[in-house]
Amino acid sequence: MSADPFENVKATILSAHESTTPGEKVNFYNSWAKDYDQHVAVLDYRAPTLAADSVLPHFSGSRKSAAVLDVACGTGLVAKQMKKRGFELFVGVDGSDAMLNEAKESGLYQDLKQCLLGEEPFPALWAGSFDVVMIVGALSVGQVPVAVVRDLCEAAKPGGLICMTTRSNSDNLRYKTALERELQQMEKEGLWSCVEITEVDGSVQQQSRPVCVDG
Ligand SMILES: C[S@@+](CC[C@H](N)C(=O)[O-])C[C@H]1O[C@@H](n2cnc3c(N)ncnc32)[C@H](O)[C@@H]1O
Repeated sequence: MSADPFENVKATILSAHESTTPGEKVNFYNSWAKDYDQHVAVLDYRAPTLAADSVLPHFSGSRKSAAVLDVACGTGLVAKQMKKRGFELFVGVDGSDAMLNEAKESGLYQDLKQCLLGEEPFPALWAGSFDVVMIVGALSVGQVPVAVVRDLCEAAKPGGLICMTTRSNSDNLRYKTALERELQQMEKEGLWSCVEITEVDGSVQQQSRPVCVDG
């Protein structure tokens, strides 16, 4: 163990990269949940802030009454940032019980569900329910499988907004390519349209809107 907190946190995160299946990764998050917020603050983890900021120029409705689905919500950092920007209604889903406990303690969510995405069915009752769907820090190798983006699209209302982040690190390039291919395929199928892609320090954020089929 190093005396440098930054090096210790980096070592913790690198050990997470060793877990290869979503189940293993979620076990890792179970053991990390209590320290997660403190550790990612040491690393200056900005994805929740950047993602929340990126939604604003594309969202024109009432923030107060907008239903936001926070997928792979973890301890609630994304909802915390969205709340600062005027959003109030949050539903969260995550595979890790311990991360969900932290999210519950934040008091930000109306509802929280445990679901190992990609291995358990996405809650069907959410179809067409959300004005904004966020997934931050979880679309990467060994975490949420690419196929789940179809569920995110289904969960959004027609004309709603979906904000996704992924990583461009070398260990994630194959995943990122597969993700981009799936997003383009869905656009060809008329399921959504891309409104913005932003590269941030090598990471990628994308916003898409489900296409409103009934006008
Ligand atoms: C890096 S954290 C991000 C949490 C939060 N979105 C944030 O930005 O702080 C990744 C989260 O994804 C969850 N996760 C990873 N793979 C998952 C899966 N297949 N199903 C559900 N949750 C998953 C983990 O439990 C963890 O809470």
